Amino acid sequence: MDSRLEIRPFGPDDDVEAELDLRRRAFGPLGSAATWTARMQAVIDAGQMVGVFDGRRPVASARHYAMRQWWHGRSMPMAAVAGVKVAPEERGRGIGRALMTRLLADLAAAGYAISTLYPSTMPLYRSLGWENAGGRYEVVIPAHTLAALTAADPQLPSAPALATGPASMRRAAGADAAAVVAALGNAHQALRDNGPTTREPAELVRSLDDPDYFAYVADDGFLSYYWTNGHEEVEIDNLVAASAATARAFWQILGSHATMADRVRACVPPEDPIGWLLNDPTAVTSRTQTWMLRVLDPAEAIAARGFPSGVSLEAVLDLNDRDIPANSGPWTLQISAGAGKLAPAGGEPDRRALRLGPRGFAALFGGVPLATLRRAGLAAGDTHADDVLDCAFGGPAFMYDYF
Ligand SMILES: CC(C)(COP(=O)(O)OP(=O)(O)OC[C@H]1O[C@@H](n2cnc3c(N)ncnc32)[C@H](O)[C@@H]1OP(=O)(O)O)[C@@H](O)C(=O)NCCC(=O)NCCS
Repeated sequence: MDSRLEIRPFGPDDDVEAELDLRRRAFGPLGSAATWTARMQAVIDAGQMVGVFDGRRPVASARHYAMRQWWHGRSMPMAAVAGVKVAPEERGRGIGRALMTRLLADLAAAGYAISTLYPSTMPLYRSLGWENAGGRYEVVIPAHTLAALTAADPQLPSAPALATGPASMRRAAGADAAAVVAALGNAHQALRDNGPTTREPAELVRSLDDPDYFAYVADDGFLSYYWTNGHEEVEIDNLVAASAATARAFWQILGSHATMADRVRACVPPEDPIGWLLNDPTAVTSRTQTWMLRVLDPAEAIAARGFPSGVSLEAVLDLNDRDIPANSGPWTLQISAGAGKLAPAGGEPDRRALRLGPRGFAALFGGVPLATLRRAGLAAGDTHADDVLDCAFGGPAFMYDYF
């Protein structure tokens, strides 16, 4: 990168309008400029925007949001990287690489164990250790089919009565933001979800207070949606429900719009129960986006996530991480009773080790099977623990949020 350029965080004296100009040139027109200005100023104030500057003029920037990500029912801090961009006339000269190298070091220094991003191009992120680890899935449902959800199987002994919704369900507004985040956490924990994120309650207040955004909260779930294309389609922002009663109640609310809306569009887990609640085979769940994961601190990431309680294993991992050398070396991975521990193994690399770079480790963490990783050139070495490692990390990981 040209020596006239400086990489540093945006500060109070930097012009947020110059950042928005970069954004417009990289990603197209902004929706509401006032909303973006406020949002980006908050990111700058939190020290979460890094730029490449030619004097006072930013020629590239990237930001991260501080979120929590749920892994098998436990959550940990996660840096969600977004808005990576270089001014069009400055591309192809190493600026993007220098920016992302600096961001990676900053996130590791800040103590994040993991980071994710939605890529529009993969080589740059791959070269720094991010790898495909999860997806964002969408289902488009003809609204009228929601009017007749399948009943519980009559042959199921003691089938639960699902006619009435959860007693705790109520409309939610901005004042309920903390209850909403708690309900989402309750649900992701109970469902042992891999991948979903939650944000700070304050970040939800504006949407929840928007009169065109409709939200319901129950103890174990949250539904929010809005109309798009006039009243042609209902688009679901969140539908997370841990119990059968809450899931059914939320889908029934959406189905009640069938006289107006043609379709309901929802971001869902790949095996959301809606696939079993509908009698219509035309509602297909498809993967719309792929997200990449970078494990910045493997020991902390393993300690902070959950694992299936029935899985017990001990394996040696030989990790090689050029950009975060402290992660390199032989490690002993122990998993039992739902918890994991990764400790330096010491000594020479074990012949019985599973060998991974940061990309293979990130994808394994996200639940990508080792048979896939070996054939993609992301894992090598001993195979004896592959089966049980697949059970321990088992995916697929998914996200609702897009950033
Ligand atoms: C993607 C972007 C940030 C890269 O910045 P840049 O300064 O042009 O990238 P660099 O010159 O540092 O190149 C870094 C590496 O990425 C690769 N790369 C850059 N742009 C690429 C593209 N569009 N497609 C595939 N690879 C690309 C380069 O080949 C290079 O790899 P190498 O070092 O192995 O040769 C920049 O092109 C951009 O702003 N694009 C538009 C916005 C965008 O798509 N942002 C990404 C959002 S996830």
